[in-house]
Amino acid sequence: MTETKIKTKPILFSGVQPSGAITIGNYIGAIRNFVLLKDSYRCLFSIVDLHALTVRREPALLRRRTVELAALYIACGLDPEENLIYCQSHVPEHAELTWILSCYTYMGELSRMTQFKAKSETNSDNINAGLFTYPVLMAADILLYQTQIVPVGADQKQHLEITRDIAQRFNALYGDVFVVPEVYMHKETAKIMSLSDPSRKMSKSDPEESYISLLDSPDDIRRKLKRAVTDSDTNIAFDPENKPGVSNLITIYSALSGDSVEKTVKHFNGKGYGDLKKEVTEVVIESLKPIQDRFNELIKDKQYINGILKYNAERAGSIAQRTLRKVYKKVGLYQL
Ligand code: TRP
Repeated sequence: MTETKIKTKPILFSGVQPSGAITIGNYIGAIRNFVLLKDSYRCLFSIVDLHALTVRREPALLRRRTVELAALYIACGLDPEENLIYCQSHVPEHAELTWILSCYTYMGELSRMTQFKAKSETNSDNINAGLFTYPVLMAADILLYQTQIVPVGADQKQHLEITRDIAQRFNALYGDVFVVPEVYMHKETAKIMSLSDPSRKMSKSDPEESYISLLDSPDDIRRKLKRAVTDSDTNIAFDPENKPGVSNLITIYSALSGDSVEKTVKHFNGKGYGDLKKEVTEVVIESLKPIQDRFNELIKDKQYINGILKYNAERAGSIAQRTLRKVYKKVGLYQL
């Protein structure tokens, strides 16, 4: 592929915090789609470690999660030579642009962010300024690269809207400095629910038994699926409203086996919940095995991972620098 061809591809930016296990929900709903998109877009997959600091972290664990996330991205099929897999803190332009943009963002609009309000409740002992300005750092992430599309879940849509507002406000004052990004919604990706409370989305911040991590052992997977909530009925049917637990298991099976929901339901016709759980368990273990094998190889080779992170931080940095220089110049910072 020629360099010019790469450059004309639309730019996609995605950020994931290195704050916990990556679940099969993240894999099915997001990472697996990145693998499908990676050739049509110029992709930046940032490990947003600065965002992770808005909540108190164990430093050694944060470092470990960061390397693990890089290895997992690669193990899931992202290409570290093509896609820019890098750490946010390794590209100082993210923090620099955040300061500038924070002078173009209003207290009022930040106070309206539902995530800020929710986190202020769950972290009432540590409502720090970083939690408040979190969306400005996210806007900087996105705008630094002249990003066209940002694949995010529903919970991040409001942050993307404020990013667009900030970009438009800045452009109105200084001319077309930023590309105004669009949300990218995956077409019909399965939403995976919690195993213990199937009315909620599967989340790594919920108790362990409610989610399956990409790095769970076969025994963990067996145990968690055995305990997964179903219902008192015995009929295997896809009905998310009335049978959320059973439907969630059907969704997981269908997403990982590649069979449609209808075909999956037909497959389980006449069988019981025990059979359903057993077969879902098999399909999960089998699908995760190649990812885990590759991950285990990669994680042993810290030097390789570090090399990837360094190479990609340099590539990201050179794009980011271009935008930041332009911004500094536009706002009137004296240039040498
Ligand atoms: N806030 C996002 C989340 O918690 C992570 C994130 C940070 C992000 N910067 C980003 C997502 C830029 C997309 C684009 O999920």
